[in-house]
Amino acid sequence: MDIEGIRKLNDWVRESDNIVFFGGAGVSTESGIPDFRSVDGLYHQKWKYPPEQILSHSFFERNPEEYYRFHREKLVIEGVKPNRAHLKLAELEQAGKLRAVITQNIDGLHQEAGSKKVLELHGSILRAYCSRCRKPYPQEVINHGEGVPRCSCGGVIRPDIVLYEEPLDQDIMEESVRLIRNAEVLIIGGTSLNVYPAAGLIRYYRGSRLVLVNLGETPYDSYADLVIHEKIGEVFSQITV
Ligand code: APR
Repeated sequence: MDIEGIRKLNDWVRESDNIVFFGGAGVSTESGIPDFRSVDGLYHQKWKYPPEQILSHSFFERNPEEYYRFHREKLVIEGVKPNRAHLKLAELEQAGKLRAVITQNIDGLHQEAGSKKVLELHGSILRAYCSRCRKPYPQEVINHGEGVPRCSCGGVIRPDIVLYEEPLDQDIMEESVRLIRNAEVLIIGGTSLNVYPAAGLIRYYRGSRLVLVNLGETPYDSYADLVIHEKIGEVFSQITV
């Protein structure tokens, strides 16, 4: 364990009440949800079509049956619980140190851990809506159904997640930029920083306390003021609030 790095992270956390967290799938792997690009990640698993193709707008429109087979098999994981990383972030917010969690994850575990200010850049599989009349639906209509779920208006019900080829919510992006631009400490964790525009948010940070806690290398390692290549749950369990 990177003792020196964790000591420095603890110093920065102790000295700040304006911390922002930006995270990805690596925050939830210790809860049993596979990430996308690690060797055992979703994008390396064999499926009829490449998963990145299935998770796209055009595939969803053209082949909703196959999309829903993948969604129910791979995206819906029953019984997952927040892990030490989620819980520590909620604790930091509670202590008035963390302003917000900005996440690329769609699993809702930050909110389940008690975080209040969570910006979901890629939406959430806990919510669904009709793609024709936009009537909201609970996730159960998707998770426990068969085939393609339909609205009373006849439209196809879809999960409230951002598929490839779809735009991110502009208001969420603008608020994320504002929070990161004004942050004293930016902690980035569990993300390969491969996917834009989400990964581009890191460029708005103007401080000198950018922390990267990630098992794998990322294109932004040299850009960070502190890099810890360890499991985020382990590292965060050693942060004293
Ligand atoms: N602790 C720290 N880092 C971890 C852990 C862990 N326990 N487990 C995995 N990681 C790291 C991996 O090394 C990897 O670099 O987390 C990163 C996860 O990267 P990706 O799998 O690419 O996930 P993410 O960055 O969230 O992907 C971004 O891509 O397909 C889209 O919409 C999807 O939101 C997703 C986006």
